[in-house]
Amino acid sequence: MTTESLIELVHSRLLPVLMDSIEQSAPIDLQDVLLRLTFDNICMMAFGVDPGCLRPALPKIPFARAFELATEVTVLRFVTPTFIWKVMRSLNIGTERELKNSIKEVDQFANNVICRRKKELSLDAMDDNKKARSDLLTVFMNLKDDDGKPFLDKFLRDICVNFILAGRDTSSVALGSFGCLIEIPTPDEVKKMEYLQAALSEALRLYPSVPLDHKEVVEDDVLPDGTIVKMRTKVLYAIYSIGRMESLWGKDCREFKPERCLRDRRFMSKSAYKFAAFNGRARLCLGKDFAYYQMKFTAASIIYWYRVKVMENHLVVRKLALTMYMKYGLMVELCKRNEAEILEHFRTKS
Ligand code: HEM
Repeated sequence: MTTESLIELVHSRLLPVLMDSIEQSAPIDLQDVLLRLTFDNICMMAFGVDPGCLRPALPKIPFARAFELATEVTVLRFVTPTFIWKVMRSLNIGTERELKNSIKEVDQFANNVICRRKKELSLDAMDDNKKARSDLLTVFMNLKDDDGKPFLDKFLRDICVNFILAGRDTSSVALGSFGCLIEIPTPDEVKKMEYLQAALSEALRLYPSVPLDHKEVVEDDVLPDGTIVKMRTKVLYAIYSIGRMESLWGKDCREFKPERCLRDRRFMSKSAYKFAAFNGRARLCLGKDFAYYQMKFTAASIIYWYRVKVMENHLVVRKLALTMYMKYGLMVELCKRNEAEILEHFRTKS
């Protein structure tokens, strides 16, 4: 389901929206468009519902906005002493109030979807195709917990919302950070796009979608460098900084060099302790392979049809949130490639 819906989304929504911007000679915010694409895609995977963010008029979707706000405000808890944000939460003031309101809106959307799906599944008259849907929500609704009971609505809601959070911004933000691409968008060949995979990994090294992560210590321990960590200590680690350490990446650590990830023109993945963009071990990103597929297919589709140029004087500044958005988006000018250019591309590739 995921591959087909992505192909459909890219061809029937993304490319026409980009084409519109060319016809109107208007620059377009590529970050916004990519966020809409991955949001529609991940909602269909999680809930089996199409929110329709990437429609030609680029409508405002309150659920998507609430989601975004929640990720922006949540990250402030990383950098605010726990007792302060807890007091703010109990008094329902400031950013904690914003967070509460946006979570309420997200939960409401999820609860409505769960309610509707339950009704659909209970209808005897509903055709079997609909009952056998493969979205995450339907799969979990048909499973039982360890005691043989159906999962509670709250669990279903949280699992789907968490999945959307994990899969939406991460991929689009990484794509936005990525500058120049060079492959042909043949879906069957996407997995073989070695250079593109290396280039995306390099973009993620320098601009990880999740720049900062944290864990809580479950029992007293000593880190490999001798640092003692006590139970319940919060440990923050900066994935952004790990990707720029000279001791790990060499003197050219700040340069964008996809060749770092290639050996004999084949993509070679780095240890998760060095390239931490997808985390590692037990908490390795579950969507890593899908994320690469989504990014490669989307990037290749755009570059195949259009030349992309970041607008002159556009300020690229990062914003602190759970995911590293660009504060002012990514305003680009697109230019449709002509047939001769595409044929030339094929000729030089064959
Ligand atoms: C460039 C794209 C992506 C990046 C950089 C990324 C990064 C990460 C990171 C750093 C974590 C660890 C969070 C933690 O435990 O502290 C994570 C977890 C996770 N990711 Fe991704 N992710 C990406 C795309 C996706 C996509 C597309 C999906 C779903 C289709 C996804 C699903 C998940 C899930 C379910 C987890 C939780 C795993 C667990 O806790 O066991 N991710 N991801």
